[in-house]
Amino acid sequence: MSKETKEITELILKAKAKALKETSSEAEPELTRPIKWPTDCIVGPGLEGAIACETKIGYVNGSKGWLIYRGYNIFDLCAYSTFEEVSYLLLHGYLPNEKQLEGFKKKMLLFSHIPNTKRLLMGFPIENMKPMAALRMGTNLMRQEFTDVDKYGYLSNIANIISADEDSIPMETEPMGEEHAIYEFKRKQLENKIKDDLKHAIGFDSCYHLLAGVPSLTGVVARIRDGHLPLEPKSELSYAGNLIYMITGREPTSVEERVMDIALILHADHGMNASTFASMVVASTLADLYLSVGAGIAALNGPLHGGANEKVIEVLKDIGSVNNVKPWFDKVRAKKGKIMGFGHRVYKAYDPRARVLGPLAKYLSKGNPEAKKLFATANALEKEVVSTLGKEKRIFPNVDFYSGIVYSSMGIAPDLFTPIFAVSRVAGWTARVQEYLRNNRIFRPRAMYVGPFDKEYVPVKQRRAAKKS
Ligand code: SDX
Repeated sequence: MSKETKEITELILKAKAKALKETSSEAEPELTRPIKWPTDCIVGPGLEGAIACETKIGYVNGSKGWLIYRGYNIFDLCAYSTFEEVSYLLLHGYLPNEKQLEGFKKKMLLFSHIPNTKRLLMGFPIENMKPMAALRMGTNLMRQEFTDVDKYGYLSNIANIISADEDSIPMETEPMGEEHAIYEFKRKQLENKIKDDLKHAIGFDSCYHLLAGVPSLTGVVARIRDGHLPLEPKSELSYAGNLIYMITGREPTSVEERVMDIALILHADHGMNASTFASMVVASTLADLYLSVGAGIAALNGPLHGGANEKVIEVLKDIGSVNNVKPWFDKVRAKKGKIMGFGHRVYKAYDPRARVLGPLAKYLSKGNPEAKKLFATANALEKEVVSTLGKEKRIFPNVDFYSGIVYSSMGIAPDLFTPIFAVSRVAGWTARVQEYLRNNRIFRPRAMYVGPFDKEYVPVKQRRAAKKS
């Protein structure tokens, strides 16, 4: 392990110790329990508080500031794991052994080569499009090129497809210790087999395909917009390393690669957030995985969900220096304005992701004067907000507050921050769709009708100027 990797691991473990200490006085969370349907829960507007389903994928505790993936706390996963391992964990429910991890990486690398889809995407005016809109189009092009779902539709029983897909993963799988060797395919057969497996556009192969393809699509958007041709991923780079390479056109330093890897782990899943819910709603109608991931990308495109980290960089540049932080903050506060990168629907404590991204941003900004200035301003703003709104309204930094400084330090343009968020969240979106489909029930909440009844119909000729009913 290099000196820098060791330092990064240490700063994560320090953040973990700080989190445990600062939240030790918070009441222990009510233990989670299996749901006996129909169940009661207090629901607010926008389904706030509603329980949509059971899950074993991820747990978010707002008062303790906990984030747990499949039983592992996020600090440990950031300190010791990789995004490839964590994606496998989210999708399959257990950390892969060496053989499973190698097979997964091999398949991901194969799926990340989508030259034809990239060529088709370049045929659109993506240089004039919001990157997230281009990304969503790219997932549709992948769907058209690699699946025959419009021709074959779905196999009758979803569970068969999913288990069949699990069987078709060309590697040893030992779920819970059983050993059943599947198949090793030579590259050609594997490609045909993959095309065959993907044709129904559901199941693990499609999850892998999207997880591997969305970074490649992000690379196309970044490169075309900068007037360059897209790059193919390199087999010697990791998933995180290839993401930086395909976006910036240069191989990352080992520190950048490790920091991006951790940032991707942090963004992979986050309970029933708007984009995860959107992808599950679409999948619950048995629309395929490509369309449900497209729905997740669409939801994440909204500024209340994705994009706050872009705005944070604008705000920090607008503030300009540490000395301007207090006057800027007092002005915003007087107008009861919202400060980007702060607050959260669930966290009323520090977002654990911000606890990790903050020190990473500081670490990465060493030797980068521009990033160093951004970090110093951010850190001063954090102190102002936490010492006031933190106390009054439990407003703390969220995942978006420092992530922009991390990506800017790598030379990544702000409008690519949310596509990077989407790249990572494909793991959570697809894992939760797979889990929900095993016990599928189309989402269909209610809306309380509060309008009038028994209105008399008046033919249009006799209607005077319409008046509000
Ligand atoms: C993500 O759901 C997820 O898990 C999302 C996410 C994920 O990983 O998927 O975590 C990713 O979306 C992170 C959030 C990124 N967005 C921002 O940083 C934008 C700024 N944040 C706010 O828009 C807001 O905090 C929300 C939307 C994130 C959450 O808002 P809520 O829970 O709906 O809170 P609210 O709007 O009802 O506000 C409650 C009070 C209000 O004050 P009062 O009217 O009661 O006096 O808190 C205040 C708000 O004014 N408040 C803020 C604030 N956020 C809430 N005040 C100042 N700055 C803020 N950022």
